[in-house]
Amino acid sequence: MKAPGGSVFEAPSGVDVGGVKAGGEAPSEGLSRGTPADPSVMVIFGATGDLTRTELLPSLFELYCKRLLPDRFAVIGFARREWTSEHFREVARDSAEYECAWHPEAWEDFASRLHYVQGDVAGAPEEGYERLSVEIARVRAEANIADNVFFHLAVPPSLFATIAERLAEVGLTHSEAGWRRLVIEKPFGENLGSALELDREIQRSFHEDQIYRIDHFLGKETVQNMLVFRFANPAFEPIWNRNYIDHIQITVAEEIGIGTRAGFYEKTGVVRDMMQNHLLQLLCMATIEPPVTFDGSSLRDETVKILQAMNCCPIDIERDAVSGQYGSGEVRGESVVGYREEEGVAAGSSTPTFAAIRLGLDNWRWAGVPFYLRSGKRLARKLTEVAIQFKPTPHVMFPRPDGPVPPNVLAFRLQPEEGIVQRFIAKQPGPGITLRDVTMNFRYAEAFGVEEPPRAYAWLLLDVMQGDQTLFARADWINEAWKVLDPIITRWDERAPEDFPNYASGSWGPAAAEALIRDDGRSWRNV
Ligand code: BG6
Repeated sequence: MKAPGGSVFEAPSGVDVGGVKAGGEAPSEGLSRGTPADPSVMVIFGATGDLTRTELLPSLFELYCKRLLPDRFAVIGFARREWTSEHFREVARDSAEYECAWHPEAWEDFASRLHYVQGDVAGAPEEGYERLSVEIARVRAEANIADNVFFHLAVPPSLFATIAERLAEVGLTHSEAGWRRLVIEKPFGENLGSALELDREIQRSFHEDQIYRIDHFLGKETVQNMLVFRFANPAFEPIWNRNYIDHIQITVAEEIGIGTRAGFYEKTGVVRDMMQNHLLQLLCMATIEPPVTFDGSSLRDETVKILQAMNCCPIDIERDAVSGQYGSGEVRGESVVGYREEEGVAAGSSTPTFAAIRLGLDNWRWAGVPFYLRSGKRLARKLTEVAIQFKPTPHVMFPRPDGPVPPNVLAFRLQPEEGIVQRFIAKQPGPGITLRDVTMNFRYAEAFGVEEPPRAYAWLLLDVMQGDQTLFARADWINEAWKVLDPIITRWDERAPEDFPNYASGSWGPAAAEALIRDDGRSWRNV
């Protein structure tokens, strides 16, 4: 390994660098859009928190082991706790060992790039920000890093505006010689009004082109593969519209409950936590018009148009939306408590942990096609997929003693077993013609020989270092997304449901969610 400042980055021998061993050619697929990542310093606000431990540090280590971090790179953790850099490194080591493929030979050099500054994120500049500024300058000088710094706010959104303001006060938001970027985590506001306010506050210190609103779903391989599948394969585009597609259903089902996040979840609920960002992004990727180029403006212009078209089809809340909250039950053979019994949750809480929504899109391609979205915690199994269900054939000449021919379905599977599944009809072997539905499976693990797809966060952090905003939500997208869901959120906030809890842990959600789709003559794929 060359000392920081060396011109060529060499991975430790034997380290998997994404399909080739160290010393072989650098993998091109890692550099998402082909631009090398800029030398930079990453500052993590909330460095002692869960997100840093479970996602940020392991993702950085993964990038390092794949030789995708710039040679000149350093991390400065910033938080209130009285930690030292040594302690920060120990915590980082534990999480890297636990969370990702462990490469002991790579650790020492990676760890030498980690530093820690103690300070109060909401305090006056002299209570931390000034020390931070000095440390950034020291680390840059020591490792000969260009003047590029990004700030990752892994803290509650209520602190975003304060941090942006303090950074501006100590002169850390602009650089003549390099760049400054700000990475923020959802939820971006709690409704349209607060999102606009948050933007106004942040944009006093950072411009839109410096702001990276992270939605980790956009870093998942299958989500990006939806775009590749649609726009790099000519076979599907001609049938990708209302003439051939019956409906699209999007499921993000989780087995987990809220764990230790009651404080966050009680205020957030499933619509703000999952629908307003992850599910609407998935829907956009499945439905957008072909962008002209794969870049930040083209792609994001198209996704905004989808939400605008959605806002032209107002939701009738009573008819199109179902909320739920989990009661006790069994998940994978283990008894679990109901939401209201979780630690930190109010006894009579009316926070929804499940939602199912029917939406429409008022545009040329999708007019009349229903979109069914559902997401919930403590459901029967972990399943994240976007399923495109095609219309039936106009005429079936084969005898059908068993009833109608099952529909063709193309499912983009994000979890488990990332891949694409096509369900179609085949002849069952034997005398005569008997129709059976069968599946063709494309699995990442088999096709590309990778056990675990890379962490979504790793790709997105790399994009930040490359200055590529393509996979980050723009302010206008966020605002349109709130417009779609605000009416539901407001209604559900105002009117406490009388039937909560209305689904047992380990089930597929409330009966009303089944009815929502069944009344249209369709059904959820509980695969
Ligand atoms: C997060 C939500 O954004 O996504 C969590 O805050 C949720 O509540 C998680 O569990 C799901 O992400 P993944 O990648 O595990 O499907």
